[in-house]
Amino acid sequence: MLQRPRRNRKSEVIRQMVQETHVSAANLIFPLFIVDGENQKTEVASMPGIFRYSIDNLLREVDSCLNLGLKSFDLFPNIHDDFKDKYATESYREESLYLRAIRAVKKEFPEACVVTDVAMDPYSSDGHDGIVENGEILNDETLEVLGKMALAHARSGADIIAPSDMMDGRVGYIRKTLDDAGFSHVSIMSYSAKYASAFYGPFRDALNSAPKFGDKKTYQMNPANQREALIEANLDELEGADFLMVKPALAYLDVIKLIKDNTELPVAAYNVSGEYAMIKAAVQNGWLNEQRATMEVLTSIRRAGATAILTYHAKEVLLNKWL
Ligand code: PBG
Repeated sequence: MLQRPRRNRKSEVIRQMVQETHVSAANLIFPLFIVDGENQKTEVASMPGIFRYSIDNLLREVDSCLNLGLKSFDLFPNIHDDFKDKYATESYREESLYLRAIRAVKKEFPEACVVTDVAMDPYSSDGHDGIVENGEILNDETLEVLGKMALAHARSGADIIAPSDMMDGRVGYIRKTLDDAGFSHVSIMSYSAKYASAFYGPFRDALNSAPKFGDKKTYQMNPANQREALIEANLDELEGADFLMVKPALAYLDVIKLIKDNTELPVAAYNVSGEYAMIKAAVQNGWLNEQRATMEVLTSIRRAGATAILTYHAKEVLLNKWL
């Protein structure tokens, strides 16, 4: 035998020398849930170790993450039902929970990178990402709301705006809205290939944002489709996106790879709530080794081609020094 691939695996030093893929703190974005009130920290039942924070505790959490070297955060609000309406007007109200939270984080920690989520669902009485009329999700009318929301985020100090709604044309619309208002420096991380996935369940529990009727299949993609992801990614690139995101991550590694091979833009992947919940549930049952399973998942997402990973594991991997 001339070739014995096992030679390159014979010691820890050599294994590390030939390792092709690494995960580092710089690649991680930590999603954080926000709730109204003071001194609140409530665990999401389906996401052990993940909490909804009131703004005061959010600042403490961001501080402790920054001290660990985790510097990017994606914020999501849990909005009380009283503030939800058909047009998601709460999403751009100056004193809303979300805008106050963005301002507070950027004021206290200007060095933190704040990613904000643009979509109507947390604020919509219908629980959908767009305006609902006679059971239909309206596309072009929704763009106007998304534009106002994105602008409000930019004014509050957002570094990166991440539209997760899957309406057609929203990246271009938001880009123009931001540019016209003098926010050409604010980035857009587009959820380009976002699938109608069962793995968002725990996130919808966290935010109480599940659709009140039907599903999201007329705007989120069919999990069976790969080539369609390229159409979405190409459009977002042409419309001015700075990052192209694939979501979920684990069941869509082929899509991450495909998009990576077809763009020069950095690709992001969202290791979603249900993917986190699966691992935690198995670990709690003693069925998986937590560190190994978590690092294998994150490494595989990087190996597939993701530059940035949005993951609920972000803090624990640094706290436990798993990297
Ligand atoms: C909503 C949004 C969702 C997630 C991020 N933004 C859920 C949905 O589309 O219903 C899911 C994130 C996760 O599951 O971790 N616009």
